[in-house]
Amino acid sequence: MGAPANAPNRKGNRMPPLSNLAARDVETLVHPYINLASFRENGPLIIERGQGVTVYDTEGKPYIEGMAGLWCTALGYGNEELVEAAAAQMRKLSFAHLFTGKSHDPAIELAEKLKEIAPVPVSKIFFCNSGSEANDTQIKLVWYFNNALGRPRKKKIVSRIKAYHGVTLAAASLTGLPGNHRDFDLPLPGFLHAACPHAYRFAQEGESEEDFATRLADDLDALIVREDPRTVAAFIAEPVMGAGGVIVPPKTYFEKIMAVCDKHDVFMIGDEVICGFGRLGTMFGCEKLGFRPHSLSIAKAMSSAYLPIAGLTIPEAMYQALLEESKKIGVFGHGFTYGGHPVSAAVALKAIEIYLRDRIVEQAAARAPQFQARLNALDAHPLVGEARGLGLIGGVELVADKKTKRAFAAAHLVGARAVAFAEAEGLIVRSVLGDVLTLCPPLIISAAETDALFDRLTRALDRTLDWVTRERLAQE
Ligand SMILES: Cc1ncc(COP(=O)(O)O)c(C=O)c1O
Repeated sequence: MGAPANAPNRKGNRMPPLSNLAARDVETLVHPYINLASFRENGPLIIERGQGVTVYDTEGKPYIEGMAGLWCTALGYGNEELVEAAAAQMRKLSFAHLFTGKSHDPAIELAEKLKEIAPVPVSKIFFCNSGSEANDTQIKLVWYFNNALGRPRKKKIVSRIKAYHGVTLAAASLTGLPGNHRDFDLPLPGFLHAACPHAYRFAQEGESEEDFATRLADDLDALIVREDPRTVAAFIAEPVMGAGGVIVPPKTYFEKIMAVCDKHDVFMIGDEVICGFGRLGTMFGCEKLGFRPHSLSIAKAMSSAYLPIAGLTIPEAMYQALLEESKKIGVFGHGFTYGGHPVSAAVALKAIEIYLRDRIVEQAAARAPQFQARLNALDAHPLVGEARGLGLIGGVELVADKKTKRAFAAAHLVGARAVAFAEAEGLIVRSVLGDVLTLCPPLIISAAETDALFDRLTRALDRTLDWVTRERLAQE
């Protein structure tokens, strides 16, 4: 995901001397998800302000935020109602916690609202601060649950190759990307990765979507049987995989996967950290893809990223088991100082009010056909192996050879170069493993802004193609 020393800067050229602010950054910060060595040369893109779907750098240059930050600023920038909700709550009660029997209004109200809109049965909500914490909590609760049920061996967790579930110890173990494991001594024992549901890369010649889905479910079944179902506790999945390259599963995938989980009494966790709150044109991603997990992890767009807040839903059977454990062992020993922070909770409540009142999810669904049509048109571009997506999320996989689907050598950093050209064109996108450009704009993006996004992306792809041709990179 990072860029080696020969990486281009965002103008697609070698970098001029770093500005004062950039130089200070390089001397003071360790940044996530960058090649730390080449970063010292190229420096950061420093964003100063934002309005609507546009952000501005320190020189005043505007960019369409084609990634909604990190898949999260669904309501865009400069939303005064969210700002006011935060300020009002800060004035009234700037902090309160949920430990040791204390509580506060915003957490109670938000939990009630989440129970009301969740597409699955929910007994209780547990709050934390990030998607990683939500997924770590999921794993801890599954283990605790199975201990409470007297099944201490039922502890293994199945995730998928190319999944992204975060970076804390359990979450990073769930993540199925090599860069999150290598030299971190991960995944931890007991974390398994099933096959990735990406037809373009992994379906067999002539295999239909439904047949591919059946094969994936059969593979999962075989994996669980091989491991011994009495030792397999849970399966976790994003409805559409995000950071793994925007992978939309084949038709019937989740209904078949759910049947396998049910057969082996495996708890199914839906990671809605990206797909939740409207991304696919439904409030939750599992509604769009037609499945009902036992629990959901939520974060990001819950507050439109105005403040950090995350959580998970707990079904009644699990809550009852936690209750019984408390009677036996006393304190429920899990929680985060800022979990359900009142200011974050007040902002999330306001964000959900806006989603419902302004019909933001319906708006996203209405924008999706234009977004997907412009996305799919990129399939014709000589550099694009597959353009794919659902709702307002998209991935554009760049390849050296369209016919054979041959990828570029990783060292050429073709995706990073395309990102740099996109930034030069006034568009922020991201490149993930395998030179996949990802798109995930704020849900409030207009028709004209959607066209501008794809016009800029097309120009960036053309410039990338010129460079690839000049450097003869497709031939290696
Ligand atoms: C699906 C999914 N789950 C979990 C996470 C981790 O969230 P965080 O970065 O807030 O820990 C992410 C982050 O991108 C994500 O995309």
